[in-house]
Amino acid sequence: MNPTDTPLPFAELHLHVEGTLEPELVMALAERNAVTLPYDDVDALRRAYSFTDLQSFLDLYYANMAVLRTPEDFADMTRAYLTRAAAGGVRHAELMVDPQAHLVRGVPLEVVLEGVTPVLATSEAEHGVSTLLFAAFLRDRPEDEALEVLDRLVAAGAPIAGIGLDSAEVGHPPSDFTRLYARARAEGLRLIAHAGEEGPASYVTDALDLLGVQRVDHGIRSLDDDAVVERLVAEQVPLTVCPLSNVALRAVDRIEDHPVLAMLDRGLNVTVNSDDPAYFGGYLDDNLAALERSLGMTADQRARLAANSIRSSFLPAARRDALL
Ligand code: ADE
Ligand code: ZN
Repeated sequence: MNPTDTPLPFAELHLHVEGTLEPELVMALAERNAVTLPYDDVDALRRAYSFTDLQSFLDLYYANMAVLRTPEDFADMTRAYLTRAAAGGVRHAELMVDPQAHLVRGVPLEVVLEGVTPVLATSEAEHGVSTLLFAAFLRDRPEDEALEVLDRLVAAGAPIAGIGLDSAEVGHPPSDFTRLYARARAEGLRLIAHAGEEGPASYVTDALDLLGVQRVDHGIRSLDDDAVVERLVAEQVPLTVCPLSNVALRAVDRIEDHPVLAMLDRGLNVTVNSDDPAYFGGYLDDNLAALERSLGMTADQRARLAANSIRSSFLPAARRDALL
């Protein structure tokens, strides 16, 4: 057996549950809910999964959410991800959900939570995958709206481990969300944010200094500034890097050019994740396979990525140690 085939437990730390909507499920849910989509069949929809940048992806990602209407829809989507992730070696998953993306189209918070929560609650028993849920706020919408939604989540006792920040990055800096993160911190929530996906390295620094994030989603643009890299190495800030996503959204030209292994060898605390696997050509194991195939990832690098992912999770110590 090739030593790089040895199964190692991985944690997936950067995953948008709405980004796991495979074209087949989009079409099935459209039929179930009598939602009309501008595609004749699955193949036509699949052909639309081709992007030029983050915004071109977000347009389709939000449009496809029209098929998510009932708790059962959210449950089916979440279960499909966990089944697939478990088959690919994921033993712990920290999933983001975008509450505002559903609220703006008239789907209440309760519907989202009623669908996602029970599936996550039984995931460790059913799939061998422990889970944590993060509410991600849309940075291209007003902070006041995010604050209101956070208050409603807290009041409803929503089982969220923390908050994130996603959607269109450039022009929507971390400094716009300081009150949101202060409020979440006061609630004892974990803090993560997308930074340095398309936006500059200064957004990574600002996410750390102004928002107090404990983990940075993406962070690849940190490489544009050596001082930022040195700080991230010194502080061992976890970066949830998503290689196939970066290629699909043209943040990196080709997988052969992806810096993730160079980042690892430079001492950065990087992990590999799938982001929106249905849209970007693969799940966590597909990302790892691409790194083996195109970048010659070694067994040692794979083992370090696996250990980084478990250590950078927000798992309680007992399960974290059991997975290491
Ligand atoms: N929402 C879903 N996927 C995202 C990504 N890769 N970047 C920003 N927002 C997102
Ligand atoms: Zn993301």
